[in-house]
Amino acid sequence: MSKNKLLEFYEELDESSNDETESLPKRLSQKRESKKQVADARLFVRAQEISREFKFTYKAARFEEAWLLDSLVEIAQHQWISDVLRKVKGGKEASVYLCKSGTAVDASLVAVKVYRPRSLRNLKNDQQYRVGRVDLDADGNALVKSGDVHAIQKRTNYGEGLRHQSWIAYEFRTLETLYDVGVDVPKPYAMEKNSILMGYVGDLESAAPALVSISLNPDEAQRLYERVVYNIDLMLKHNCIHGDLSAYNILYWNGDITLIDFPQVVLPESNPSSWNIFLRDVTRTCQYFSVQGVNCDGRKLAADLWTSHGHKIVKELDPKYLDAELPEDRQVWEKQK
Ligand SMILES: Nc1ncnc2c1ncn2[C@@H]1O[C@H](COP(=O)(O)OP(=O)(O)OP(=O)(O)O)[C@@H](O)[C@H]1O
Ligand SMILES: [Mg+2]
Repeated sequence: MSKNKLLEFYEELDESSNDETESLPKRLSQKRESKKQVADARLFVRAQEISREFKFTYKAARFEEAWLLDSLVEIAQHQWISDVLRKVKGGKEASVYLCKSGTAVDASLVAVKVYRPRSLRNLKNDQQYRVGRVDLDADGNALVKSGDVHAIQKRTNYGEGLRHQSWIAYEFRTLETLYDVGVDVPKPYAMEKNSILMGYVGDLESAAPALVSISLNPDEAQRLYERVVYNIDLMLKHNCIHGDLSAYNILYWNGDITLIDFPQVVLPESNPSSWNIFLRDVTRTCQYFSVQGVNCDGRKLAADLWTSHGHKIVKELDPKYLDAELPEDRQVWEKQK
């Protein structure tokens, strides 16, 4: 496959094509490119074989179809899904599709989040979230082989694959844990390769919108705010900070909320930035509810929740977490300069 074809492939995967596609030619060395060509040729051959058995309604672009077939074949073979109906949304890291369930699922519709191939994932700075986390394998178990751990540290090509897998496994494992303890998250069904199958929020016509695109009446705003706080508290009780919480990652459907998007989950005890990340989650979420007329103080709420679970508030000198508007943050910042 030529470089142009490859770019076409990436662009088709994400119609809202962002700057990563533009920077791709620079990022791909000659050697990596030819390796990719071989891998992509293999993907096409395999997709052709799969498509004899598994066909879906969603009319994907040619390259996206190959990628989807390859990603979803096991999930279909296990009767988790019987059809892909449409794309719900292409996100920064993954695309989410609405699927008709297979016989192994207790709901008629399911959502599948298919992570993009590693090379074109919009790598959000995952390092800060990974601190203190043990990497997980494709089954969600801790990676223990020293060769694997070494490969991840050394960032070899193989190690990057493991790291990507671990990122996905964290999302699935977190959904399992949180669903079991009653946090409002989609029901997790399966993880295969680069895909996570979970409960779908919405109906056949439309998927649930994110809170950010909804205006609430005052009573509902207050009720949902309290529900979100309940969820944040419950997550903290189970050693989990979302890490990217805001009104963008909270879905709204029939008067209820559902929290989504968990790969960057942070452990409060073992990540030195955990307080700052937690504070950011809470203040961002409160920003939305303040606009909806709820009387809330994100900083105070974060501090109350944090200390009620026995955690200490530690000031970290990372400018990323400092708020220029706050005098105490400004002081820290000035001192550090
Ligand atoms: N279970 C679900 N049911 C319905 N829609 C969903 C579900 N999960 C995700 N979505 C939709 O897909 C979008 C992308 O999902 P998610 O946030 O998990 O992925 P992402 O790649 O991290 O996206 P982003 O970069 O936009 O945060 C969500 O904003 C939401 O609109
Ligand atoms: Mg998201």
